[in-house]
Amino acid sequence: MRHLIDPLDFSRAETDRLLALAEKIIAAPAEYAHKCDGKILATLFYEPSTRTRLSFESAMMRLGGKVLGFASGDNSSAAKGESVADTIRMISGYADIAAMRHFKEGAPFVASQHAQIPVINAGDGGHQHPTQTLTDMLTIRRSRGEISGVTIGLCGDLKFGRTVHSLVKSLVRYEKIRFVLISPEELRMPGYILKEVIEPSGHPYQEVREMEEVMDSLDILYMTRVQRERFFNEEDYVRLKDSYILTPEKLALGKRDLAVLHPLPRVNEISTEVDADPRAMYFQQARNGVFVRMALILTLLGLEKGILEEEG
Ligand code: NCD
Repeated sequence: MRHLIDPLDFSRAETDRLLALAEKIIAAPAEYAHKCDGKILATLFYEPSTRTRLSFESAMMRLGGKVLGFASGDNSSAAKGESVADTIRMISGYADIAAMRHFKEGAPFVASQHAQIPVINAGDGGHQHPTQTLTDMLTIRRSRGEISGVTIGLCGDLKFGRTVHSLVKSLVRYEKIRFVLISPEELRMPGYILKEVIEPSGHPYQEVREMEEVMDSLDILYMTRVQRERFFNEEDYVRLKDSYILTPEKLALGKRDLAVLHPLPRVNEISTEVDADPRAMYFQQARNGVFVRMALILTLLGLEKGILEEEG
């Protein structure tokens, strides 16, 4: 049985096959509408979410399956002190697959060790968010045809943003990637990502403060929200929250075929005036999230063969 806790739990070949499956689903959704008849997905969300939880639920329903779960730890037995290990043991009897979001780094990993069903990490603290990465990769692939060769600017909260940590881990496995890391000093990419992920890959990277300096070199601009909930004090958040605001004037410096991505939710970092620009891909990206999650559910339930290595 396989889980998806870290983006590297899937090899590059497995990831590519999963993205190709998502594209097949986009092309012919009706063919997949009953693949999960009789199956149940549990969504165990201990931390706020709109897109991730609802796109998981939409994905399972579009496959013909059913969904149960909770949207906050406060109204589950976690509030009584139940451990993640106990919760998942029990859920293993109630559902066929589970997606878990937790404020504690590592909680979905612990769950996977006690589960009798596949567990998907739907975001753990400031750590990883592998299904957002699949969504991002599908969006990059659909906007440019391939992932290799991309110059990607990651902008905003690179310190606490789990989506950028997972995306970088996944992208280093492709060829000719160039990383442009745009952040204030206080929100720079963590040292462990630079030293253990980017540097060993040999891909070039640069760290800059202003997006205007680098805008014309980018193929992808990946904007992120300053992660208020991970700050130790509100003053720092208030000082840093509006570090970057993408406006039509700044976007005018970008290439004509630039794609602007954002995992959403957006706060102030992309002006709503940018939404009408054809290069604004973030709502399309959110929609892609449903299709990659459909592909992922089918794969982990063993309903689509040939994606994971041991199945050949
Ligand atoms: C992201 C997350 O939860 O990390 N949201 C999402 O899943 N689409 C990004 C964020 O909250 O800023």
